[in-house]
Amino acid sequence: MELRDLLAQRRMTRSFDGTPVDLAWLEELCALALWAPTAGNSAGVRLNTLGHGDLEGFFAVATDEQWRARSTRFHGLRRAGGAVLVTSRPQDYEARYDEDDKAGSGLGERSAWPVPYWHTDAAMATMALLLLLEERGWQAVLWGSFRHSEDVRRWAGLEDEELFASVLIGKTDGDDVTSKSLDRTVPARHERVRRLVP
Ligand SMILES: Cc1cc2nc3c(=O)[nH]c(=O)nc-3n(C[C@H](O)[C@H](O)[C@H](O)COP(=O)(O)O)c2cc1C
Repeated sequence: MELRDLLAQRRMTRSFDGTPVDLAWLEELCALALWAPTAGNSAGVRLNTLGHGDLEGFFAVATDEQWRARSTRFHGLRRAGGAVLVTSRPQDYEARYDEDDKAGSGLGERSAWPVPYWHTDAAMATMALLLLLEERGWQAVLWGSFRHSEDVRRWAGLEDEELFASVLIGKTDGDDVTSKSLDRTVPARHERVRRLVP
């Protein structure tokens, strides 16, 4: 499929049919996604896989009982076939930008970064993964876990990394509860492209 079609076709999906993801297959896909650009070749993004059977434990820490009880999406999400926790290692960026050829940037300390490139790299790898999944006929949703980020990192043994997002992956069951975000009126894509000097 053409890249333009993959881009147009990809939609976040939040209700899955329980088909498990083969982890060896997913890990190959993750390795491909890591062809994504990485600032200074810091290579500080990690893609951490979870199988269908691991998701109960994941949801137990990534959500709370109140949310699970009231969410219209929980049942569809828990039928995901697997997940990828996208994490990054700011310390790798500090170390890289402290090397001789980069030390002049003054970015050897994370608080000095106006744009934290570990998040940028994580986003690039995540998009590559979403497109690869789309190409292979799988669906996914990118899921933030700000409120429970520390619990998830502790549960996953990733305390010294930052959790960028969790990508829940599966086959759609066609019963998606669409996001309210999609009801928003936003500027058309072409309006968000600007020629600065006419
Ligand atoms: C940085 C980022 C964070 C997101 N966080 C969530 C999330 O926590 N939960 C969720 O259901 N969707 C999340 N989304 C999905 C967006 O709601 C979705 O991409 C947007 O509404 C456009 O829909 P589409 O991707 O299907 O075109 C996130 C997307 C991005 C890029």
